Amino acid sequence: MSDRYCVFGNPVHHSRSPAIHRAFAAQCAQDVSYTAILAPIGGFTEAVGEFVASGGRGANVTLPFKEEAFALASRLSERARIAGAVNTLDFAGPGILGDNTDGAGLVQDLTGNLGLSIAGRRVLLLGAGGAARGVLGPLLEAGPRLLVVANRTVARAQALARRFAGVARVHACGFDDLAGESFDLVINATSASLTGDVPPLPKGLFAAGALAYDMVYGDTETPFLGLARRQGVERLADGLGMLVEQAAESFLVWRGVRPQTTPVIAMLRVARPPAGQR
Ligand code: ATR
Repeated sequence: MSDRYCVFGNPVHHSRSPAIHRAFAAQCAQDVSYTAILAPIGGFTEAVGEFVASGGRGANVTLPFKEEAFALASRLSERARIAGAVNTLDFAGPGILGDNTDGAGLVQDLTGNLGLSIAGRRVLLLGAGGAARGVLGPLLEAGPRLLVVANRTVARAQALARRFAGVARVHACGFDDLAGESFDLVINATSASLTGDVPPLPKGLFAAGALAYDMVYGDTETPFLGLARRQGVERLADGLGMLVEQAAESFLVWRGVRPQTTPVIAMLRVARPPAGQR
């Protein structure tokens, strides 16, 4: 029987993870099955227990269970501990290992796929929720000259910056405070796109040649990328590459081999042409 993996989420029917992991398994000739499991709100721990009891080897965890997965893990990787959230569970060893591959996936997409060098650059991270927290550690490790976290609720940005105070200097502010500043990389880690909103950003935020990156992806251009395009930004990227890269990193944790991501990203782009090319 194939080794069983899954993604837990609620909702989860939209998840691209089964398609991604099945493509990885075929490419790496690994006998792996991967399904999406809808865990009830309040029933995450039981759902994981049932999956482990039925022979499950590992799992990805998506919204809204990443904090619960963090609490459930009996061992944590350093990057999961820093993120305070877990997107990858490994049941192969003693207890349950919790890892977080989101930040590594983002940095790999930025540097490997999009060819951006983060070192020495001015980086703006929009949002201070779980998505922002999950990627801040790996972003800082990449060595930006400046990292600013801007959030609608400034106190949340300040709390996030304090959390990383021992690692590097992170500046925290509200959106209005960004007036007059410009950045080489602006990453949208707010959930505003999901409701068709865009953070109220001052004009002139994007430096010449800047990259606008939305961690969200969808069938059409996200509102944040639309705003960046209207402000003249030419380098635009949604979160599909990050999704595939975090999956590859999870596959590595479970199987000891890192799949090639380029053909899998291309496969998903064919299934859903990038906004602007339809
Ligand atoms: P996630 O796990 O997706 O990060 P979250 O922890 O609920 O979800 O955080 C959502 C983030 O998106 C927060 O930074 C939130 O700002 P607040 O902390 O001020 O709530 C931000 N956000 C959500 N909707 C937004 C909007 N319409 N405009 C700007 N920021 C928004």
